Amino acid sequence: MKRIKVFVLFLIFIFLIIIFGCSPSETRETTKKDEKCLICHRKYSKFQVILWEKSKHKENGVGCTACHGINHREMKRLKGRVLPKKCAGCHEKEFADWQRSRHSLGLNLARANLRYKLQSFEVQKLGCEACHSIQERCDVCHSAHQFKKPKPPLTVTSGCENCHMGQDHPQKEAYDSSVHRRIAQESGKPTCSNCHGNHKVTKKRSEIIKACSECHTRKFAQDYLLKCDKIKRESIALLEEGRRIIQDLYKEGYLKEVPGSKLEHGIPPLSGKTLAYEETSFIEQVFFQMLKYDFSNITQGYYHISPDYGHWYGTARLKSHLAQLKSEAQKVKALRKKEAK
Ligand code: HEC
Ligand code: HEC
Ligand code: HEC
Ligand code: HEC
Ligand code: HEC
Ligand code: HEC
Ligand code: HEC
Ligand code: HEC
Repeated sequence: MKRIKVFVLFLIFIFLIIIFGCSPSETRETTKKDEKCLICHRKYSKFQVILWEKSKHKENGVGCTACHGINHREMKRLKGRVLPKKCAGCHEKEFADWQRSRHSLGLNLARANLRYKLQSFEVQKLGCEACHSIQERCDVCHSAHQFKKPKPPLTVTSGCENCHMGQDHPQKEAYDSSVHRRIAQESGKPTCSNCHGNHKVTKKRSEIIKACSECHTRKFAQDYLLKCDKIKRESIALLEEGRRIIQDLYKEGYLKEVPGSKLEHGIPPLSGKTLAYEETSFIEQVFFQMLKYDFSNITQGYYHISPDYGHWYGTARLKSHLAQLKSEAQKVKALRKKEAK
């Protein structure tokens, strides 16, 4: 009997150690480490601390070290960057979805491109990777430290607009000038994320039609998108025409590589991957505008219900540039023939 009592007391003793001993001292240890960061960083990066203090992370005891670790030298090497893998430990689903999207490949895409290779290190970093680094960052749509969920109607474009904008992919501008933007400002829908998702972003037709169907009949949405597809095919045919004219000039010897150019030699494929806006002839620069800007305004404009982007920045410019390209081809031929005489 006595031995059982001693054993029970011993168990209670162990239990008390577990509750008031190890466990609390462990959490105290973590907060202590975090407090060290705070002492300095209230001074050196005050705003980050203020944002973190207002976050769900602070509320749930997720301190500086949970994301940055404790190795200051390593933090400096990474310039404070926290890779998505780190968030995955606590946000498995969001990470898995994100990993299945093209966003997790953004950096590879840019680095494999000829335009990237032609830039200085600094332009590569600030001019390409600032957007394409989405492959290494979760904090592009959730600004770091506050990590708020982007919520409409205050932020109907959820941070997507920081990258999906400008003449080579004017999704923001097209959306902003569509009737949908106004509707979203009033009702919170449809936003970029409603149609494309947030972590597993997609442009898959079946998924997008599903999104339209929340508000329109399936037939209405399908009819509209089929018209867009038709315009896209027409536009590709115009691009093909321009491409062939330039390639023929090369084949017939009227055009030659720019001397000293770092571009590939021979007849240029004039594809998205290899087309540059520098070290080329004037006629190829006209083609660059057609492929990278006009065509993109056409697709992004019509698909996002912006007649102005679709037509005036898109169709009208593509056709006008093709006319310029043809006229330039004639000039080049005439000039070479004159030189040959
Ligand atoms: C003794 C003061 C001090 C302590 C303690 C401290 N830091 Fe720093 N930290 C700095 C200073 C100063 C810089 C600026 C780096 C520089 O100029 O070399 C910095 C830079 C950083 C950077 C950015 C690196 C960069 O290059 O942009 C991160 C992230 C960071 N600290 C996080 C932490 C975390 C997390 C802790 C706690 C584990 C911590 N720091 C503890 C003073 C401190
Ligand atoms: C939920 C994760 C998370 C937590 C918690 C967190 N950070 Fe950060 N921190 C980040 C991310 C992500 C970046 C990268 C921002 C970037 O690349 O611009 C960053 C960048 C930084 C930088 C460098 C960027 C700059 O603008 O100077 C400093 C300094 C920093 N954090 C300090 C802190 C401190 C101090 C704490 C605690 C109060 C903290 N962080 C808590 C995720 C976190
Ligand atoms: C140590 C675990 C931990 C890590 C690491 C962590 N988080 Fe969290 N995160 C949490 C917890 C806990 C919450 C609060 C969950 C809740 O309220 O349901 C949260 C909430 C969030 C929210 C929702 C905020 C809101 O206002 O609703 C976002 C967004 C978020 N985290 C993003 C990130 C990102 C991005 C990273 C990596 C840079 C990260 N988290 C790293 C634990 C973590
Ligand atoms: C403003 C942000 C931003 C900058 C700066 C940026 N990109 Fe992009 N890039 C994007 C976005 C967003 C997409 C996806 C566009 C889409 O799907 O419509 C993209 C698509 C691409 C594509 C695929 C489409 C194509 O043209 O073949 C390549 C390649 C690319 N970028 C390379 C680069 C290179 C190289 C640089 C620097 C010289 C660069 N990007 C600068 C945001 C940017
Ligand atoms: C392309 C933009 C984008 C990127 C990149 C992104 N998020 Fe999100 N995230 C969102 C949006 C939009 C929401 C709000 C979804 C909602 O309200 O239903 C969200 C919500 C969240 C939430 C809150 C989920 C909930 O239901 O409470 C967490 C956690 C989160 N993201 C973590 C991450 C992590 C981890 C990464 C990186 C692997 C990441 N996010 C990258 C756009 C993004
Ligand atoms: C930091 C820059 C950045 C932000 C912010 C961003 N994106 Fe992207 N997005 C890219 C880049 C770069 C690509 C091209 C990646 C590739 O093709 O590998 C891309 C591609 C896409 C694609 C094409 C996917 C496919 O399968 O072809 C969609 C759709 C997309 N993004 C939607 C969004 C939405 C919606 C948001 C906001 C919730 C968003 N993006 C925020 C940079 C960004
Ligand atoms: C009402 C639904 C809807 C909204 C809202 C919407 N999109 Fe789209 N988006 C589409 C459709 C439809 C396509 C065409 C898909 C295809 O190529 O079949 C598309 C295409 C795209 C693509 C792929 C471009 C390409 O050619 O590869 C990106 C990236 C994109 N949208 C980003 C955005 C961003 C960013 C926003 C918010 C500013 C947004 N979208 C708002 C429906 C929408
Ligand atoms: C959250 C609801 C919602 C979603 C999702 C949505 N729309 Fe709409 N859309 C509207 C509303 C509301 C209007 C304005 C209708 C009106 O004023 O009669 C509109 C207008 C339009 C118009 C212009 C009609 C006109 O008056 O000329 C087109 C085209 C359109 N939507 C296509 C689409 C397509 C395609 C999708 C999916 C890619 C889509 N919508 C997704 C709500 C939505």
